[in-house]
Amino acid sequence: MAMIAKKCPQYQVKIVDINAARIDAWNSDNLPVYEPGLKEVVESARGKNLFFGTDIDASIKEADIIFVSVNTPTKTFGFGAGKASDLQYLEKTARNILAASNSGKIVVEKSTLPVRTAESMERILNGSDKGFRFDIVSNPEFLAEGSAIADLENPDRVLIGGHQSKEGLAAVEEIAKIYANWVPRERIITTNLWSSELSKLTANAFLAQRISSVNSLSALCEKTGANIDEIANAIGKDSRIGSKFLKASIGFGGSCFKKDILNLVYLCEHYGLPEVAAYWESVVKINEWQTNRSVKRVLRSMFNTIAGKKVAVFGFAFKANTNDTRESPAHLVVRGLLEEQAIPVITDCKALPDARRDLSDVLDKVQLIEDPYEAAKDAHAILLCTEWQQYADLDWKKIYNSMSKPALVFDGRNILNGEELKKMGFEFISIGKA
Ligand code: UDX
Repeated sequence: MAMIAKKCPQYQVKIVDINAARIDAWNSDNLPVYEPGLKEVVESARGKNLFFGTDIDASIKEADIIFVSVNTPTKTFGFGAGKASDLQYLEKTARNILAASNSGKIVVEKSTLPVRTAESMERILNGSDKGFRFDIVSNPEFLAEGSAIADLENPDRVLIGGHQSKEGLAAVEEIAKIYANWVPRERIITTNLWSSELSKLTANAFLAQRISSVNSLSALCEKTGANIDEIANAIGKDSRIGSKFLKASIGFGGSCFKKDILNLVYLCEHYGLPEVAAYWESVVKINEWQTNRSVKRVLRSMFNTIAGKKVAVFGFAFKANTNDTRESPAHLVVRGLLEEQAIPVITDCKALPDARRDLSDVLDKVQLIEDPYEAAKDAHAILLCTEWQQYADLDWKKIYNSMSKPALVFDGRNILNGEELKKMGFEFISIGKA
């Protein structure tokens, strides 16, 4: 919304939330999320045509267009627990919109949702006798964390779905007009409502599938002497395959991939397609297997016992350039280390506050240290879990000298120069290399 405000001074953008502390943070110099370039975008529009507040009902009343961006986490209870999306916040928001409105509006689904959610939104919003109508439009967001601003400035595409009726098409055009202020028209794709809703889950499933595919073969590389980075490079040159999202790792994390695939799995089961469900579920299973087997490999390399040993974990965020730790493979790694009674010493460039929150039940068993050199001191091993460039640029000789010997480095992101590290004296293992 900040990008829309920046690019479209003729629109008034009002962001509302029930969480007052978060809104205060958005109004302050310390934004509640770390995202490169975001602060500048917010500051360029805040107070001019971008406002943050908690006056939800008044803001609903004023608005012509409402983007609904509430969270849709995986359900933890009842039918579909562990897979289906929990749509209670979405439904509450729809009821809130209806109750607070005294004129018709365009309601945009920005949250990632199961296909056909708009149907329930419509039943709630247009089921009353208020005398005006709401048009539902789907406009999924494809930005990735860490590169959000670049993704928004220059998106591969913007997707807008709506009903193919006169009113539906007019609503789609109204939303397309906003993006057309900076996105070339040919990159603004319009579809029917259900295609748009399902495209978001499909895009995330395909992206995650590429990572699981490459990670599954990384295990075969380790057994055979093939090198997964060389393979990724070789196959990525095939224009039909493409080079992106082929980086082997300890596993994908983040708030989207697992949640969205499980949601897709649930939908397939719901519509009586168990084979399709099983196919996509295997993407998540391989991902969990990849993280678990990484911990086991480290354990094997350390004489099968790490109890009482200090093990430094470099990176807790689910990827570089973000402080987001949701579904981070590093978190699973730390839990695995704790099960083996090791002493994890965690460092991260931005995510230590979130790590502290995630590990609040075991804070007496872990250490959180900002300085990676300090974190590595006296450690028996370093497990690199997040691909922060800062870690590739460290003085590894200095780190080697301060560690317990034999000193092991496990590069869970394949960003370090293994040959150099071995020359320094490190034992070195990485993903997908013998
Ligand atoms: C993802 C989608 O990319 C984005 O389009 C969607 O809107 C939200 O979900 P995000 O979760 O922010 O974005 O990050 P992404 O860059 O996709 O990375 C997801 C995970 O996959 C990270 O843990 C990352 O480290 C990992 N990854 C990514 C790999 O392990 N290998 C790769 O080659 C690429």
